Amino acid sequence: MAARKAKASAPAGGAPDLSGLSPDEAAGVRRALKAGQGSTLRFWDKLDLAGRQRLAAQLAGIDYDLVKRLIAEHVSGSGAAAAKAPAGKLEPSPVDRLPASEDERRAEERFREAGEDAIRAGRVAALTVAGGQGTRLGYDGPKGCYVFGPVTGRTLFRHHAEKILAVSRRCGRTIPWLVMTSDANFEVTRDYLVRERFFGVDPAAVHIFQQGMLPASDRAGQLILEAADRLAMSPNGHGGTIQALSDAGLLDKLAAQGVDTISYFQVDNPLVRAVDPVFIGRHIAASSEMSIKVLKKCGPLEKVGVAVTRGGRIEVIEYSDLPDELAHARDAKGELLYWAGSIAIHVFSVPFLARLAGEAKRGGGLPYHRAEKAVPCADAEGKTAKPDGKNGIKFECFIFDALPLARKGLVVETRREEEFAPIKNATGEDSAESCRKMLADEWARWIEAAGGEVPRRADGTVDGRIEVSPLYALDAAELAAKLPAGFRMKPGSDVVLA
Ligand code: UTP
Repeated sequence: MAARKAKASAPAGGAPDLSGLSPDEAAGVRRALKAGQGSTLRFWDKLDLAGRQRLAAQLAGIDYDLVKRLIAEHVSGSGAAAAKAPAGKLEPSPVDRLPASEDERRAEERFREAGEDAIRAGRVAALTVAGGQGTRLGYDGPKGCYVFGPVTGRTLFRHHAEKILAVSRRCGRTIPWLVMTSDANFEVTRDYLVRERFFGVDPAAVHIFQQGMLPASDRAGQLILEAADRLAMSPNGHGGTIQALSDAGLLDKLAAQGVDTISYFQVDNPLVRAVDPVFIGRHIAASSEMSIKVLKKCGPLEKVGVAVTRGGRIEVIEYSDLPDELAHARDAKGELLYWAGSIAIHVFSVPFLARLAGEAKRGGGLPYHRAEKAVPCADAEGKTAKPDGKNGIKFECFIFDALPLARKGLVVETRREEEFAPIKNATGEDSAESCRKMLADEWARWIEAAGGEVPRRADGTVDGRIEVSPLYALDAAELAAKLPAGFRMKPGSDVVLA
């Protein structure tokens, strides 16, 4: 069905009946009316007291000043255009390229040592952002609980936990694990991780926290009701991480423990080096406040943000905001000029995040972006219905917008086949299937480099299923040290190294 055009009106009988509501709930309703969001009360007369209380409590939790600003900037009025047009000439960002010489490889080893020293000193925490809705994947549950393991059915959370644990064991120091969830998946995530005993990570070092939620607006600037007694709310984007860390008291807590560096990654990329000592060492050596990993885009229009400079500051520009002629521009050797695709693997300094959280409290902070989405909404009877097309606007902050705010930022190249196999879609590109293939390729490369044999089909793909636990090997060298001599995988067989 098409989006319902909401009318900004009080309930049929005029002023809503607030009897039975708590003072806070009643104040929430009044604030919604004052903010011109009376259409959220259009089923008020039909709701019983419990329904009214639910809706009123939700209305009481809305920051109407922020909502007003977002609607003015992104839905109606001239602010929308102004917010879309940042000034300054775009140029490709400087990037620390992959080591190409012996000297550079030796330097990389020194960065590894520095990173491991920092981990040993208890300066490093890992952060998984897992608050998204995973709509493209269409999986019913938190994405972290999604089974991607080809043989044992390991989940994304298990894989990340084991990676963190493996680095902890190597360095002899517990690495705190921060997991960002949202209102929609906090409880299920917490219960799952508790049930699985955090896959061996010290429970005292695991911090599951929640990001903020924001209401969605229709094109007329009215908040959308998902049902008669419920607003359509969604997480405020991975940029909400900074505020959420601060609100949960985690920035102070980490600082008090001596943690000054956070390794940040997304829950849906099992190929990531969750805690990469080389990357951390580079970040520390450069006195960077925020460092990002990039890889060569597979074509001019690959849908990843691109590292650029604007007005002398490094930033990540969304693929949809990179002008077409720049996306296609090539250098004298025929290489893409804007080749450096950001893959959402970052290292942050904790004082930097604390500074940004402080600025946000004073009205600064990360900008919001608009995204047009199909938002399930209340039909004429107040029942939730799926819209035919995009009917609403959601507001999100992006974590990479922190980069130009850093006093010093760093961009580091990595290899796609070693770090980026996201599970975004149910099928095709960036799906569980494409991810499993990349993991099988990596594990097969490790086994072959260790002298083992892996059967391959005519097209080069692995003939069989391989799964390597991070606790068995985090990299080729560790696998080589453990793989039994004369290891041979039979065609079409399953191999688990755990
Ligand atoms: P995506 O932007 O790919 O979103 O998130 P998503 O929710 O996983 O999937 P779609 O777009 O609905 O299909 C990238 C990473 O950022 C996290 C996600 O959990 C994922 O790890 N994320 C995203 C958050 O933690 N919070 C958000 O508000 C958005």
